Amino acid sequence: MTKVGIVGATAYTSLELIKTLLRHPDAEITYLGTRQETGIRISDVFTVLTKTFDMPCSQLSKNDVPKDVDLVFITLPPTISMQYVPQFLDAGIKVVDLSADYRFKEISVYEKWYKVKHSDPSHLKTAVYGLPELFREKIKGATLVANPGCYPTSALLGLAPLIQKNLIYNDDIIIDAKSGISGSGREPKESTHYCERNENLEAYNVGVHRHTPEIESIISLIGNSDTFVYFTPHLIPMNRGILCSMYVKTKKKITNEEIRDLFNDFYAREPFVRVCSDDKLPKIKDVVNTNTCEISAKVLGERTIIFSSIDNLMKGASGQAVQNMNIMCGHRETMGLL
Ligand SMILES: NC(=O)c1ccc[n+]([C@@H]2O[C@H](COP(=O)([O-])OP(=O)(O)OC[C@H]3O[C@@H](n4cnc5c(N)ncnc54)[C@H](OP(=O)(O)O)[C@@H]3O)[C@@H](O)[C@H]2O)c1
Repeated sequence: MTKVGIVGATAYTSLELIKTLLRHPDAEITYLGTRQETGIRISDVFTVLTKTFDMPCSQLSKNDVPKDVDLVFITLPPTISMQYVPQFLDAGIKVVDLSADYRFKEISVYEKWYKVKHSDPSHLKTAVYGLPELFREKIKGATLVANPGCYPTSALLGLAPLIQKNLIYNDDIIIDAKSGISGSGREPKESTHYCERNENLEAYNVGVHRHTPEIESIISLIGNSDTFVYFTPHLIPMNRGILCSMYVKTKKKITNEEIRDLFNDFYAREPFVRVCSDDKLPKIKDVVNTNTCEISAKVLGERTIIFSSIDNLMKGASGQAVQNMNIMCGHRETMGLL
């Protein structure tokens, strides 16, 4: 049995962690930490949990590590997370961090895009990027896993087979991505206000979205080449889900069947990647509330379009985090996950 803590218990991603962990046969939630007032129960925050899971939350502290915990999920915002991670690692507790604080091997890239000095460079060196389909062996031995961002998960799972086979130009990748609004977290902002989002579709953070360097750094790593992605995220009036349409140029002619065969080979043993059959295209409806990523591709003249859909809160966050916990703790990888 793995004893699990959640640090930042009131986050959207925490609710998904709780729901997933409650059906996990080999995990038990023993700690919920929040900066909210003491005495608050998690079901006061997420009323859907009333009578199912009424556990009291503890006051979050930077110097007080809970006892009786083997692994913690950190669901704090980037730049805050790294203020809490070291105390858990130093106490011998494994960490899956859902923020971006440990995703970049090059500290200068993190500091440029997140506009703060990294406060924990020593643990950053040991962190493993938690995309199991690419880095499973490293995750097995990790004590600190940097859970990938939601857009990067969707984009990288679609692109990785072609990049690893050196089939596309890595410096000319167009990613048109659309996300449900829960991707922006629980804290209300004007940009997530109902009146701004309902009946609306708009691009945002073009050229400055912080998932751009994350996608580029992993493509450079697995493709061993310079990379440039033209990444345009959009917010769509849906609660959850991501669809990426990615336009790439192949180095030689390739057919739809060849790409489908490549995807099928690459993901043959992967429980959470589903390659669409025939002419079917991924849709958010088929992956929402699951840890599955659906992918397919279409060759159109000199460009090939790759499609990839996930649930941002599951494969893009909490589902993948539990998948990483399972790998780190020696549980069956699919435990607790749909
Ligand atoms: N949402 C997604 O789809 C998604 C996908 C992938 C990764 N992520 C990442 O996962 C993490 C959680 O995301 P989320 O969307 O679930 O966040 P969220 O709903 O906005 O919740 C953020 C949590 O952090 C706490 N918090 C904020 N500032 C804090 C501070 N200064 N000190 C202590 N606690 C603080 C909040 O507590 P209070 O209740 O006290 O405000 C809340 O529990 C983030 O790093 C995010 O980038 C999110």
